[in-house]
Amino acid sequence: SVTQILTKLHKDCATPVPVLRHVADSMANDMRAGLAVDGSSDLKMILSYVDALPTGNEKGLFYALDLGGTNFRVLRVQLGGTDQRVIATEAEQVSIPQELMFGTSEELFDFIASGLAKFAEKENGEFQLSQGRNRELGFTFSFPVKQTSIDSGVLIKWTKGFAVSGTAGRDVVACLNEAMKRQGLEMQVSALVNDTVGTLAGAKYWDNDVMIAVILGTGTNACYVERTDAIPKLPGQISKSGTTIINTEWGAFSTGLPLTEFDRGMDAASINPGEQIFEKTISGMYLGEIVRRVVLEMAETGSLFGSSIPEKLQTPFSLRTPHICAMQQDTTTNLDAVGSILFNEAGIESNMGARKMVLEVCDTIAKRGGRLAGAGIVGILQKMEDDMEGLIFGKRTVVAMDGGLYENYPQYRTYLQDAVTDLLGPALSENIVIEHSKDGSGIGAALLAAANSKYKP
Ligand code: BG6
Ligand code: GLC
Repeated sequence: SVTQILTKLHKDCATPVPVLRHVADSMANDMRAGLAVDGSSDLKMILSYVDALPTGNEKGLFYALDLGGTNFRVLRVQLGGTDQRVIATEAEQVSIPQELMFGTSEELFDFIASGLAKFAEKENGEFQLSQGRNRELGFTFSFPVKQTSIDSGVLIKWTKGFAVSGTAGRDVVACLNEAMKRQGLEMQVSALVNDTVGTLAGAKYWDNDVMIAVILGTGTNACYVERTDAIPKLPGQISKSGTTIINTEWGAFSTGLPLTEFDRGMDAASINPGEQIFEKTISGMYLGEIVRRVVLEMAETGSLFGSSIPEKLQTPFSLRTPHICAMQQDTTTNLDAVGSILFNEAGIESNMGARKMVLEVCDTIAKRGGRLAGAGIVGILQKMEDDMEGLIFGKRTVVAMDGGLYENYPQYRTYLQDAVTDLLGPALSENIVIEHSKDGSGIGAALLAAANSKYKP
């Protein structure tokens, strides 16, 4: 019956403190393994080659290009140095057409380069390029890339539903350069960064206590500031004194997660079965789909909506995370918004009992996601504290957050914060500030392009 399905769901998704603690500990252990030897852990612990963080002295005109999960953004910024910092910025956002996610590498990069070219044409007198320089670009590429330097790196594989042919194994900066050439656009990529790394650099520019950045959007990932002497796998030529940013690619984490038959079904049907399990449990691309699978089971074996099974409900990804989020914001006594979303998105006619049941399912999945994300953050904090005693919990430490899921889903945010407090206790969690850093990754990438400029200041 429907109640039995819900009871089992609650049980399978439960995240009491011992479960969270195990996740946090495993995260810390997997981080260590990934730092020691490549390929020995779910966590790739990718070297970002970002050693020069923006200082605030950067000057001049810089561009950023941010290819995320659903959109790509372009941005230009005029930096004024210590006193003036950011003089002017302009940004534009374009959503990535679905067919490009399944097309060829050339098609995708041509689309991006032509968007950038159009944007660059609109540059006005507020922005000024220093004499004798080419325009420089920070490229935020939100997929796992094995960096070979600050301005080059090879795509390991696509994630988040992208299945573009011909990019994996290639240097994505070369792909972009070739496309810019085809578009007749002259720009020089000075920094290639993950979106988490861009977010960290952008947030740290304003607040030096930022030590971790987390994206919770279509996909999820985290990066943090690491001491180079705590990275055994660091190539010999890189200085072991100092710090660098590590991109964990935590979406691939998998140890100790409370999973259900619905997660397994979704994973099996995905384009990357067995991969990105943490991402599939906590990020925006998947939460709605998990809820749809549970509700479908309730309809099929428990007649939640009477005898008929609406066809739309049987369509994968017909319910999306923004829908389950919107349903959870419904404060009307008749749950009118829940009713109309179910009707519009899944073709369902629902009574009050069914609407309440659907809300229970949404809440269960959002709660598990938010709490596990919180446990992941604690895992990173713990690892850092172990190596730098007192420097994390003993002072103010900021975790910069971004991404559509974190930004738009208040219940999820609350569950995340609750889990962090549950795990750390009130005293330690007082020093840990988890805050939204909106669209920092664009500015962050531009700042990193400036900090790694090809030209002498
Ligand atoms: C944005 C960041 O806010 O969130 C991007 O600026 C990031 O760098 C993006 O890629 C991820 O969110 P979503 O929801 O588009 O996947
Ligand atoms: C996916 C990508 C990762 C990115 C994250 C958030 O997990 O593999 O690189 O940071 O999504 O956008």
